[in-house]
Amino acid sequence: MYAVVGASGNTGGATARALLSVGAAVRAVVRDAARAEALKTKGAEVAVADLDDVDSLARAFEGARAAYVLNPPAYTDPDLFARARTLAGNVAEAVRRSGLPRLVVLSSMGAHLGAGSGNIGTNRIFERALAVPGCATVFLRPAYFMENWAWVAPVAAQAGVLPSFLLPTDRAIPMVAAADIGSLAARALQDASLSGVIQLEGPRPCSADDAAGAFAAALGRPVAAAPVPEEEWGPNLEKSGFTPRTIAAWVEMFRGFNSGAIGFEARGTPPVRGTVSLGEAVRGIVARR
Ligand SMILES: NC(=O)c1ccc[n+]([C@@H]2O[C@H](COP(=O)([O-])OP(=O)(O)OC[C@H]3O[C@@H](n4cnc5c(N)ncnc54)[C@H](OP(=O)(O)O)[C@@H]3O)[C@@H](O)[C@H]2O)c1
Repeated sequence: MYAVVGASGNTGGATARALLSVGAAVRAVVRDAARAEALKTKGAEVAVADLDDVDSLARAFEGARAAYVLNPPAYTDPDLFARARTLAGNVAEAVRRSGLPRLVVLSSMGAHLGAGSGNIGTNRIFERALAVPGCATVFLRPAYFMENWAWVAPVAAQAGVLPSFLLPTDRAIPMVAAADIGSLAARALQDASLSGVIQLEGPRPCSADDAAGAFAAALGRPVAAAPVPEEEWGPNLEKSGFTPRTIAAWVEMFRGFNSGAIGFEARGTPPVRGTVSLGEAVRGIVARR
C-alpha cells in the first residue's frame, strides 16, 4: 500500500489516481476525509492526518511500502521558509517513527540553487531535511506547473487576456502537467530501482503566448498574453493575501525564471519528458471551471 499526502490536491491527487489506475493499493492521506470522497469511490483507503501532527502522520505511514509527500503552499504564512522547516522536520520524524522504507518527495526544478530561487528555497529545505537514514528517498523536481495558469483562467475567460509574470511572453521555459507528475511519482513509489533526484518536464518548453493560444483554443475565443510589469507584481500578490516574505520570495522566483537563472540542474540526470501537452492541460483547467 502506498500513502499519498496531499491527495486532495493537484499533484497528490494525480499520484493517487495514477496508482489506482494500475491497481495499486492507495491510502489517501488528507486533513478532511470529505476531500477524499472521489478517491475512496475509486478504491482508496482514507487516513486523516496533518503535517503539523507527527503522531497522525506516523500512523498514516505505518505499513506503507512507500509514501508521497510535499510541502503545501503556505503563501499567507508570515514565514514560508520557517514553515517548510517545521513540516519537513515533522515528516522526517514520522518516517523514523513508522519505519517507512521509501519516500517520494515533491521538490522543484531549481531546488539545487542555494540562492536566488525565491520560494523554491522551501523545496530545497524539504530535500535537505528528508534524506533520512534507512529510508530510500526520491526527490522529484518538476518544471513550472502548467496548472499555474488556472490562477488567471477566469480573466482569460471573461476578458480575453492572460496576465503573465513570465516575461517576455514569447520566452519559453520548461513546463509540466500535474498528470505527468502523478504518473512519475506513482512509478517512483513502486520502482525500487529509482532513487535520488529525478527532474521532469513536459513534451516541450512553453511560453505565456503558448498558454494564451491554448486558452483561446479551449475557450473558443481570442485570448492574448498580457505582460504584468514587475512593479505590479507585489500589489497583485498582496490582493491574494500573500505576506511580505512570500511576496519577496515570489518576486525573486519570477526574476529567476525570467533571467534564466532558474532551470534544471545541468550536472544532474537530464529531465524525464512527460507526454501531456499544454493544450491538454489547459483544456482540463477550462473543463474544471
Ligand atoms: N507551482 C509550480 O509551478 C511548482 C513547480 C514545482 C514544484 N512545486 C511545488 O509543488 C508543491 C505544491 O504541490 P500541489 O500543487 O500538489 O499543491 P496543492 O494542490 O496546493 O495541494 C496541497 C495539498 O496539501 C494538503 N495540505 C495542506 N496543508 C496540509 C497539512 N498541514 N497537512 C496535511 N496536508 C496538507 C492540502 O490538503 P487540504 O485539501 O486539506 O488543503 C492539499 O491536498 C509545492 O511544494 C511547490 O513548491 C510547484
